[in-house]
Amino acid sequence: MDKKVVFSGVQPSGKLTIGNYLGAIKNWVELQDEYDCYYCIVDLHAITIPQVPKELRRSTLEVLALYMACGIDPDKSTIFIQSHVPAHTELTWVLNTISYMGQLGRMTQYKEKSRRSEENLNAGLFTYPVLMAADILLYQTDLVPVGEDQKQHLELARDLAIRFNNKYSETFKVPEPGIKDVGAKIMSLQSPEAKMSKSDADENAYILLLDDKDTIRRKIKRAVTDSLGTIAYNDEQLGLKNLIEIYSIFSGEKIPSIVNKYEGQGYGKFKEDLAEVVIDGISNIQEKYNYLMDNKDYLEKIYIKGAEKAEYQALKTLRKVYKKVGFLPR
Ligand code: TYM
Repeated sequence: MDKKVVFSGVQPSGKLTIGNYLGAIKNWVELQDEYDCYYCIVDLHAITIPQVPKELRRSTLEVLALYMACGIDPDKSTIFIQSHVPAHTELTWVLNTISYMGQLGRMTQYKEKSRRSEENLNAGLFTYPVLMAADILLYQTDLVPVGEDQKQHLELARDLAIRFNNKYSETFKVPEPGIKDVGAKIMSLQSPEAKMSKSDADENAYILLLDDKDTIRRKIKRAVTDSLGTIAYNDEQLGLKNLIEIYSIFSGEKIPSIVNKYEGQGYGKFKEDLAEVVIDGISNIQEKYNYLMDNKDYLEKIYIKGAEKAEYQALKTLRKVYKKVGFLPR
C-alpha cells in the first residue's frame, strides 16, 4: 500500500527560531519513516514582504541546510525549493478563481501583516494562503505538521479542496492539520502573550537556531517571568509556562517532573539549566549546519533531485485539475 503523504514548509525570510524548530521541523523528522514526506522551502511566499535578492538566495540555502541539520534525511524525504516547481503558481491561479475575497480578508495573518505594511499592501499578501493551499493540495497531502499560527490557513486549504471537489468532482485529498499539544506555539521571551517570531524587532524576544552559547544564556537569563517567584505551570505565569515547555521538548522530560524538580527553588537556577538544555539540543544541529554550508555543491544536488521528484507528483495533480476545469491539452 502507498504511504500517506506529509507536506510542510518554512519561509526563507530571516533566520529560523527555536519556535520554527519546536513547532514544526522537529516534528517532521519523526514522520519520515511512516510517511512520504515533502519538505519545501517556500521562497515564493517570502517575497510577499520585501527581500534583498542576494540575502534571499542565501537564506534559501541556509534553510535547506538547517532542514538537513535538524534531521531531515534527503534519502527518505523530498526536500525542494518552491519556485523550482512552477506547478505551485499554476495551481494557485486556478484556486484563486474559487477563493472568496471575504474569506481571504478574514485571515488573521493577513490582517496583522496588512496593518504592519500599510504603505506596501501588495496583492501577494492577500492571496498568500491560496498559494499555501496549492502547495499542500498538489501532493494529495494527508497530514500537514505546522505550528498553531498556521491553523486558519490550513482550514482554508481544506475548504478549497472540498469546494473544488464539489464543483468539478473528486480531485484533491482533504488534508488534516498536525498540530502538537505542546510546542505548537512557542511564545516571545520578552512578551509571553505573543508568539516568538523571527521578525520581532527585539532580538531578546527569540532564540535563533544559530545563536551561540553565550547569546542563548543571556537571552534566557533576560526572559520575562513574573514576581510570584515559584516554579509552576499555569496560565497566570505565562513566561514561565513557555520556558517550561521549551525545557520539556528539548529534554524529553515531562512537564510535571520538571515542575517537581525545581519546586521551592528560584527562577535563577531553572533558567541556568534551561540554557544548557537548549544549548545541548541545538549544538549538534549547528555543527551539522556548518558542515553542510561548507558543501554547497552537495546542497545543490539535493535540491535539484528534490525538485525533480516533487515536480513529477505535482504535475500529476495539475494535469487532472486543468482537465477538469476545461483547458484543452497541448
Ligand atoms: P513560517 O515560515 O512562518 O513558519 C514555519 C513553521 O514554524 C511554525 N512556527 C512556530 N511554531 C511554534 N511556535 C512559534 N513561535 C512558531 N513560529 C513559527 C509555523 O507554524 C510553521 O509551521 N505559511 C507558512 C509556510 C508554508 C507552509 C506551506 C506550511 C507555506 N506553504 C504549506 C505548511 C504547508 C509560514 O509562513 O510558516
